[in-house]
Amino acid sequence: MDELTMPFIYKKGDQMLTASNEVLFLRTIPPEQCETLNQQLEIEVKRNCNQKQLTTYWQTSGDWLNGTTEPIEKLRSILKDAINHYLINIFNRNHAHLDGLRLSKNFRHELKLWGWGGGSVGESSNPPHVHRNAHLSGIYYIKGLSKTDVDPTDYSGCVTFIFGDSAQEVLMGSYAATNLFPIHPIPGTLVIFPSFLRHFVHRFRFRQFERLYVSFNCQFGTPLEAMSDPTRKR
Ligand SMILES: [Fe+2]
Repeated sequence: MDELTMPFIYKKGDQMLTASNEVLFLRTIPPEQCETLNQQLEIEVKRNCNQKQLTTYWQTSGDWLNGTTEPIEKLRSILKDAINHYLINIFNRNHAHLDGLRLSKNFRHELKLWGWGGGSVGESSNPPHVHRNAHLSGIYYIKGLSKTDVDPTDYSGCVTFIFGDSAQEVLMGSYAATNLFPIHPIPGTLVIFPSFLRHFVHRFRFRQFERLYVSFNCQFGTPLEAMSDPTRKR
């Protein structure tokens, strides 16, 4: 597990990153493995959106991620694999406190996964927020900036995590945050984070490009506790 430092360097493969005691997981799927899938997912997302909104910003409605088409099923299995990787790593890191139990790679978690697709062209943003009623959340980028086009000083369209715990940050969001970590929308990038970790999407200030993503949430049961019920009101 690596300490998160800026400027951030996108490496090949998996990166488990810690900051302020939180853990982010980045998995980079190489273009030769995800290019065709991304093209299929683009069609799947766009045909499930309001067609009039495709010139601005758009989002699928309902639980798009539990659709039954082949590309969505394939994406679901990619996401589940990454979620398992995250959970096993975290669990085993703390195993001394957890009955000394260690999980193997084949361990199957009880898991509820739901999500939606969305995108934007040009000016678009999303203010700081957390994802409620979930344990882990994540984003998978279908379309965005190619790795060679990434400018580390331009955060247009980045999802940015706010690390820290001061009340001022909670109230003021990115105005008061001193520890921000932006992730560029590079196709094939999958990021998983604790759902309570606040994040926002930067405005497209300097550059305009099409950004297409799948966002998801999940809940899971561990070997030591029953799974919580997502329909619970509190
Ligand atoms: Fe979000």
